Amino acid sequence: MILSMLVIGLNENLLWLHEPLGISILVLAFIRLYVRLNSDVPALPQDIPVVQRRAARASHFVLYAMMIAMPLVGWSMISAEGPPIILMGWLHLPSIMPHDVHLFRVLRMVHMILAILLAGTFAMHFLAAMYHALVRKDGVFSSMASGGRSTD
Ligand code: HEM
Ligand code: HEM
Repeated sequence: MILSMLVIGLNENLLWLHEPLGISILVLAFIRLYVRLNSDVPALPQDIPVVQRRAARASHFVLYAMMIAMPLVGWSMISAEGPPIILMGWLHLPSIMPHDVHLFRVLRMVHMILAILLAGTFAMHFLAAMYHALVRKDGVFSSMASGGRSTD
């Protein structure tokens, strides 16, 4: 969903889809964070260098932060643009920012910068996942793909 949002956001004609999908991502991200904070996490293999462990932690933190920040900034942006915000048919979103053209422009810029940051972090994340799956074959990929760590 998040990846498709990066593409859908670029097409003005698809904003009707972009907005409800973005709010769904916000809800799902909170559920995911709750589950994550209340679950055991598969440990990384022992031989992974400290630098790579830190990079993984930092990039996961950024990805989680983006999952929450992107929809919130998007929602704030359309709030500042002016009500009413129609999500889908009869479903309206409350406004969370005052109607202000200057604020709208700033938030639009922030939304775009965050999208670039998200795309860049995802690219590194994807390459790292492929490195584990295809080069190291150490079970990190399958721990996410199939819930087990034994095979890749
Ligand atoms: C994970 C969530 C989201 C991602 C990854 C995302 C990504 C993007 C991207 C890549 C663009 C194109 C950037 C640009 O042309 O300025 C965009 C534009 C836009 N997004 Fe989002 N977005 C998200 C959530 C939301 C939400 C929740 C809303 C509103 C409820 C929203 C409202 C908009 C609007 C109105 C635009 C068009 C801005 C313009 O006028 O150019 N976005 N989004
Ligand atoms: C095809 C795309 C993707 C692949 C192959 C992939 C692969 C993986 C793998 C293998 C892990 C496990 C890393 C570990 O055990 O330390 C992981 C974790 C994670 N991924 Fe992805 N990922 C993808 C897309 C995304 C996207 C789009 C996001 C969010 C924007 C994301 C966010 C995360 C986060 C936050 C974690 C850490 C999970 C946790 O520890 O709670 N991933 N991913």
